[in-house]
Amino acid sequence: MQTDIERVLFDEPAINRRLDELAQQISNDYRDRELTVIAVLTGSLMFMADLLRRIPLPVKLDCLSVVSYHGKAQTSGEVIFKLATASPSGGGQVALPDVAGRDVLILDDILDSGHTLTAIRDKLETANPCSIHVCVLLSKRKQRARDVEPDYVGFEIEDEFVVGYGLDFMERYRNLPYIGVLGKNCCRNQACDERIVSETLAPLPSQGRGGSNTGAMKVRVQFYAQLRDLIGIRELEVDLSEGATVGDLLDQIYASQPALRLHDKSILIGAGVEFVDRSHKLKHGEEIAIMPPVQGG
Ligand code: IMP
Ligand code: MG
Repeated sequence: MQTDIERVLFDEPAINRRLDELAQQISNDYRDRELTVIAVLTGSLMFMADLLRRIPLPVKLDCLSVVSYHGKAQTSGEVIFKLATASPSGGGQVALPDVAGRDVLILDDILDSGHTLTAIRDKLETANPCSIHVCVLLSKRKQRARDVEPDYVGFEIEDEFVVGYGLDFMERYRNLPYIGVLGKNCCRNQACDERIVSETLAPLPSQGRGGSNTGAMKVRVQFYAQLRDLIGIRELEVDLSEGATVGDLLDQIYASQPALRLHDKSILIGAGVEFVDRSHKLKHGEEIAIMPPVQGG
């Protein structure tokens, strides 16, 4: 696994030194107050555990889990709140942590486009906290899609894909004790963005039962985040037989993109702003999003 890392950016001693400084700063700023920390799962786990143990204030801790639909046109559909812990559940509903009148500090692993933190901040603001501040371990130096100014930043980094110390690529590398840049052979990122293309995928020979209704409908499939990087394709137009399901669509995509099949168990399928399962019947012209799990983590 170590050989997948092109370059170590911050080793354990460097992370520990910076955590000491951050914890000191937060402890001073919140002196004589009780802090309500909302950690964004899963990426912030290590950061949260190590940072909070350095803060000698009364602290309440809650966690949020989100899935982001980056790049989708509908802003409301971009970040879906999956679950909240340590809060009384609203009968299976996503229960937001109770932050009314509290001094909230949102902890996240990395600030990239800003979609995730903007959505979380906006959502928590509706619950009338006394104050909301944002603390991220890493912040990428880049033009962001959303304007977020974090109040506390561990390290600023260039716009490259990093893993370790909680941060993942397809759920791997979170357990590395350092933060490093993932090698280009493991992750096709910015450098390869120009190669990301739109393509049309012809139906599988087995489709269209007898060939009579082959290509009766088209759906547009968009790939997100690491899955897009993995195959180097942003969008596919797929010809399908009438009555085809998401399962049929995936079979067809996997036939031309076998690397995707390895992630079959974990991918999320969005239709509009809803998640759907393999039995979802497709409609002509429908837009389908294929995403990695828990992007906000
Ligand atoms: P944003 O919504 O684009 O700001 O993305 C935030 C989420 O994307 C983070 O919480 C991470 O889970 C993920 N992410 C963005 N950049 C990286 C990276 O370089 N390495 C690992 N995860 C990343
Ligand atoms: Mg992640």
